[in-house]
Amino acid sequence: MSNQNNQILKNTNAQILDEFNASVMFDKELYSQDIKGSMAHSQMLYEQGILCLEDKEAIHKGLLQVKEEIESGKFEFKIEHEDIHMAVESRLTQIIGDAGKRLHTARSRNDQVATDFRLYVQEKSLSIKEQLKELISTFVEVASKHTSTLIPGMTHLQHAQPVNFAYHMLAYANMFKRDYERFESSYERNNYSPLGSAALAGTPHNINRETTTKLLGFKAPTANAMDTVSDRDFALEILFNISTAMMHISRISEELILWSSYEFQFVRMSDEYATTSSIMPQKKNPDVPELLRGKTGRTYGNLISLFTVMKGLPLAYNKDTQEDKEGVFDSVKTIEISLKILNEVIKTMIVNVDKMQKACKIGHLSATDLADYLVQKQNLPFRTAYYITKDVVALANSLNKDISELNIDEIRSANEEIKNIDEEIVMYLDLKASMNARTSFGGTSTKQTENQIEVFKTWLTRN
Ligand code: ARG
Repeated sequence: MSNQNNQILKNTNAQILDEFNASVMFDKELYSQDIKGSMAHSQMLYEQGILCLEDKEAIHKGLLQVKEEIESGKFEFKIEHEDIHMAVESRLTQIIGDAGKRLHTARSRNDQVATDFRLYVQEKSLSIKEQLKELISTFVEVASKHTSTLIPGMTHLQHAQPVNFAYHMLAYANMFKRDYERFESSYERNNYSPLGSAALAGTPHNINRETTTKLLGFKAPTANAMDTVSDRDFALEILFNISTAMMHISRISEELILWSSYEFQFVRMSDEYATTSSIMPQKKNPDVPELLRGKTGRTYGNLISLFTVMKGLPLAYNKDTQEDKEGVFDSVKTIEISLKILNEVIKTMIVNVDKMQKACKIGHLSATDLADYLVQKQNLPFRTAYYITKDVVALANSLNKDISELNIDEIRSANEEIKNIDEEIVMYLDLKASMNARTSFGGTSTKQTENQIEVFKTWLTRN
């Protein structure tokens, strides 16, 4: 190989390595947290007498200019800066000169990145919580209109017992409330400031971590610098929280897809959220909930990726952890757009009360009520009542009727043991009565459902 070729290869390799090593093209997402962290750090250095007033003021002014340049699109991100931390610092030094070189006193990129990333995760935890709250409030709003709308409650996707549609909506409101609480508790658990941990062992400078903790809005400084620079539990937690919420989003999406099919026709999605087929002109496809369901997959992938990155790392900082960011950014963006869209889909869906009601007449949904009646009023053992009810169901099938449509003579004729059963049983087998009979705490009766709505309304005003 000629000398010239050798040189080209070497240059190319160097360039590839720079690109391989750099994170600036994605961690620029953290620019505002990085600048916030540097403002706090320099303020603390000044208060501790480590930086003079002029230098601190120059740094603050310069950082604000860098921020403005980034936000207006004037800032040029370059691979040679390696990451957002170096990019900001070098531009700062370009603008203000030597004072910029003092900013990194008593700090390492290891605590800097831990701080920036944690600030990002904390900010996003709060905004995702807000979005979850909005979604919950939408479910409660829809529920308020449907406390008497019957829909077949299913197990194994088979008709089981009648419930009301509000109750079904509130099942989701409960899932999203737990998600909300998960973001809340991880926020609390991770609300500690990494800044001042330095490279891994603290610093000989007379810093004050309480000051930066306060300036950044954390509760207290983290307890052990070595743990702090290598810990990414907080990132794993948000990935898990997002994955769980996406799993719930995926489940309601699945139901929306089923419910909007010809076979169900329980809901119709607003035209805005349904798409047409490029070949079949008559079609209206549920692409939007399908995508919500599909996008859940990548959030699980991001969680497993970071778990895998972290599992073999010795203490303390390792460059492997640079791999923590893209997955988190991706999961955050995915859930932000998903929550926004799902909220609109639920708000604008058209509920077909008639179809839901009609579907309840298939599958003898009130059969359990007959068994319960025999236990309560005739003191029969449940298993005996169960077999008698089976006979009544068989009779209803032979007459091509639902159990809720049988008259008293038909019921009495089904089994010797109930040949004298009270006429009131007909009322008990009515579908709405069946739903309303489930008065146990957390049950589906309209009254219980209304209570649940009230509890949610109070929760929504308190949170
Ligand atoms: N870009 C790096 C990251 O995201 C910042 C920390 C680099 N520290 C170091 N000592 N190389 O993890």
